[in-house]
Order: sequence, then structure tokens, then C-alpha cells
Amino acid sequence: MLIILLGPPGAGKGTQAERIVKEKQLAYIATGDMLRNAVKTATALGRKAKQFMDQGQLVPDELVVEIVRERLQDPDCAKGALLDGFPRTVSQAIFLEQVLPTVCSGIDRVFSIEVDEKELIERLTSRRVCSDCGASYHLKFKPPQVRNVCDQCGGDLFQREDDTLETVRERLQVYKNQTEPLVKFYQDKNLLERIDGNLEIDQVYKQIAGIIEKL
Ligand code: AP5
Ligand code: MG
Ligand code: ZN
Repeated sequence: MLIILLGPPGAGKGTQAERIVKEKQLAYIATGDMLRNAVKTATALGRKAKQFMDQGQLVPDELVVEIVRERLQDPDCAKGALLDGFPRTVSQAIFLEQVLPTVCSGIDRVFSIEVDEKELIERLTSRRVCSDCGASYHLKFKPPQVRNVCDQCGGDLFQREDDTLETVRERLQVYKNQTEPLVKFYQDKNLLERIDGNLEIDQVYKQIAGIIEKL
């Protein structure tokens, strides 16, 4: 099975992915997390990606497709995978179509998680993320049980560098210009499911899980 989560920054892709991959036993492929790890460990890729990420811009396609190509070859992807934040441009989507036949039978569904802009800004500017496992929290909507400590793994929580108001605005604009065209791209292929992401975390999950169950 191959599932794609599409949606603007703050839509809840990571939050939903965490639960879906656990329940459905899917490999989790989140290009944002992979790129942040590369920046943290200062690899050649990380050094190239950092400037784009800090400015809220997309990392060039040729760098991102390589990490996805490699990741899809890992043995855990054979049982199915969930893509979070990839593809993000039409050319990434075309790359995926070309590489997928070597991995699985194709894309099963693309969930477009749709949320009002005002809500996205509130979610991102008060988000906290686990430095060890990447789990997402929110000071108001999803606080950890112990302040600044991850419920899942005990790791420290931090605020992402691109979650400042200015960079969030830039990321939303980049989404509109470069990623939103994928909604139509996948609609034309009859793979798209629109999900109301304004609802509570559980409600959003129920919409997605209900569709996956019928696949
Ligand atoms: P990435 O890490 O993918 O960031 P993003 O797409 O901007 O999305 P976010 O992770 O910010 O949001 P999310 O939808 O996961 O929301 P979350 O669940 O955390 O990418 C970062 C950067 O890497 C990019 O800017 C780019 O530079 C680069 N990059 C990555 N992939 C790339 C690619 N393919 N090509 C090129 N460049 C790439 O939730 C947000 C907050 O809201 C949390 O606090 C959460 O607790 C809360 N929340 C979630 N759901 C709800 C709800 N239903 N109600 C209330 N609160 C909620
Ligand atoms: Mg995320
Ligand atoms: Zn954690």
C-alpha cells in the first residue's frame, strides 16, 4: 500500500502520519524530517538544504528525489509506505510515478488535508517537536503530559527554526505556488481524497482511517 499526505504547512500531516503508520504498519517517509536530520548531522546534503529550509523555500528537486529514491529501497518499504511532504512539486510527482513500479503496485490514495490559513498560522507558531522521534505537539491543542518532554520517547521538545511568523507566511505562499497544483494533478488521476483538516485531531484521523480501511 502507498499513501500520500498532501497539505499546507501545519495541516497535520505529521500528526496524522504518526498514527496511521502505527495502526497500518507502514514505513514512514517524511522528507522534512529526513532533511532536518541531514542539517543536524551536517552532511553534504544538509549543508546544501539548510539555506532553503531556513527561508521557507523548497529544497531543489534533484536533492530531494535522491533521498526518496534511496529510502524506497529500504526493506521496510516492501510492506507499504506513507509519504509525508513528498511529492511537493509536479516534477517530484512525475519522478515518483517513474520510480514506483520497482517498489509497489502504485499509489493507493492521496489525502489532501485542507485547513484555513488563520488556523495554520496558530498551529505552527505554537508547535513543539521532539528532537529524538520527531513527534509533533502544540502548546494549546496537543500539549505533552510533562512540559517540554515527549510523551512517546522522553526526548526534549524544541521549536522548529522555520516556525517563526515570517517564515510560516513564506512557506504558505510556497505551498500555494508550487505544491497546490498537485491537488488537481492527483484529482485528474482519481486518487485524491479531500479531508477537512480544521476538525479535531481524532476527527481528522477518523476520516482518513475510514477511507484506508476500504482500500
Ligand atoms: P516539512 O517538515 O514537511 O514541513 P511542512 O510541509 O511545512 O509541514 P509541517 O511539518 O510544518 O506541518 P504538518 O502538516 O506536518 O503539521 P503537524 O502535524 O506538525 O518540510 C520542512 C521544509 O523541508 C520545507 O519548507 C522544505 O524546505 C523542505 N522540504 C521537505 N520536503 C520537501 C520536498 N518534498 N521538496 C522540497 N523541499 C522539501 O501539525 C502542526 C501543529 O498543529 C502541531 O503543533 C500539531 O500538534 C497541531 N495540530 C495538528 N493537527 C491538529 C488539529 N486537527 N487540530 C489542532 N491542532 C492540530
Ligand atoms: Mg510535518
Ligand atoms: Zn519523541
